[in-house]
Amino acid sequence: MAERHFKYVILGGGVAAGYAAREFVKLGLKAGELAIISKEAVAPYERPALSKGYLFPQGAARLPGFHVCVGSGGERLLPEWYTEKGIELILGTEIVKADIASKSLITAANEIFKYDTLIIATGSTVIRLSDFGVEGANANNIFYLREIDDADKLVAAINAKKDGKAVIVGGGYIGLELGAALKINNLDVTMVYPEPWCMPRLFTAGIAAFYEGYYANKGIKIVKGTVAVGFDSDANGDVTAVRLKDGRVLEADIVVVGVGGRPLITLFKGQVEEEKGGIKTDGFFRTSIPDVYAVGDVATFPLKLYNEQRRVEHVDHARKSAEQVVKAIKSAEEGASIEEYDYLPYFYSRAFDLSWQFYGDNVGDTVLFGDNDPTSVKPKFGTYWIKDGKVVGVFLESGTPEENKLIANVAKLQPPVQDIEQLEKEGLAFASNI
Ligand code: FDA
Ligand code: NAD
Repeated sequence: MAERHFKYVILGGGVAAGYAAREFVKLGLKAGELAIISKEAVAPYERPALSKGYLFPQGAARLPGFHVCVGSGGERLLPEWYTEKGIELILGTEIVKADIASKSLITAANEIFKYDTLIIATGSTVIRLSDFGVEGANANNIFYLREIDDADKLVAAINAKKDGKAVIVGGGYIGLELGAALKINNLDVTMVYPEPWCMPRLFTAGIAAFYEGYYANKGIKIVKGTVAVGFDSDANGDVTAVRLKDGRVLEADIVVVGVGGRPLITLFKGQVEEEKGGIKTDGFFRTSIPDVYAVGDVATFPLKLYNEQRRVEHVDHARKSAEQVVKAIKSAEEGASIEEYDYLPYFYSRAFDLSWQFYGDNVGDTVLFGDNDPTSVKPKFGTYWIKDGKVVGVFLESGTPEENKLIANVAKLQPPVQDIEQLEKEGLAFASNI
């Protein structure tokens, strides 16, 4: 059995891995010290592209166009960059066993990778309908979207089923972004989700009403308050229909499912401390085990601003936690110290001509401002969340870069609010005056 040893190993080759590699190089890395082990066959890339530009009917994004770190305006790290820097990219390689006691990661072929320091960056996997025993959920043309291979299969189906019918199961991030992408590809799209409005993890009823109206105007049908309980397929095993709990049946040539993600931590079960479904870390992304760190989607870290342990499944945190962990590792080696991670949550999405950003925490009372009429030529609106008399979160659709900076600043500074009606009237002007 082959055995190799590295000073640093990053397990997972996604967003966090790429940003961590860049930070290692910035802070000083010797050739041969770092390996990135990834199940995917490609060098780290900006995963958000998969549900957006990758699915465009014309001028679609393709690798090497969106390798990290272009998503944050940084240098694009091509596979050659890793070679030049002496970083070993071990691609198409899945680790099936982790033994923290012997500092070993093991593949199905029994290859062993030993490390001095491990960074766990395995991200999330999709929740499957077959996990809840939905009948017929293994039919052909039922797609999930997490990795580039999934996106390639979806693109092939979109091309094969031109002008066909698509059903989107789930009204979260994937549901809304994929609903738009399939519509742009001229499919007849129906979305199905159980809640009274889309994206209930973040959206208020007022925010959701805008997007649901906008999607309806684009010709997308929305079925709420029910779930898929079964799929029919033809003699080839290709999906033909989605059966809903309320008895309705929707014809389908393609189904896309986005019913949530789950952090990939099974390899480490019983070996590291967990919290809130993730691997528990401190503000330097150290786990309960020395020399083992966790970043990105898998880490449950102290969100200093809210004095609470949280897990964040978004790209901005993947990038920043990766930079923080490398700074922490390198400074510890030098006997120096760095500041604890102090993160301001930032989420965004884009679909059709729309683009929103959210900063902070979506708790407390809400105030909707601006024009959220989906039929307006240039709709622009937002929402403030107010808790204990302070603004703690801000959402803005169609903000300019300057306006988005202003709302980020509000969420960070948490200014007090005396008069809610006044805040509603002021809208974005409130943010400009902070
Ligand atoms: P990430 O998932 O990027 O990488 C994990 C890597 O580990 C993968 O390459 C995986 O194959 C590998 N791996 C896992 N287990 C392994 C094993 N046992 N052995 C070897 N390799 C293993 N966020 C946002 O803020 N805005 C957005 O617009 C989007 N858009 C978006 C679109 C789509 C389609 C998805 C799936 C996700 C988003 N996100 C997003 C979320 C964002 O992409 C996500 O939070 C980050 O990619 C998380 O980065 P990580 O590095 O933690 O995991
Ligand atoms: P999500 O949690 O955003 O949404 C899941 C949706 O599915 C919810 O509306 C949920 O109620 C619904 N649902 C649950 N069970 C259902 C059922 N049986 N039938 C129909 N609907 C059901 O998760 P997602 O959209 O699948 O996204 C997966 C991951 O990818 C998340 O980590 C997300 O953060 C990430 N992502 C982020 C972005 C972004 O930030 N712009 C874009 C794409 C993906």
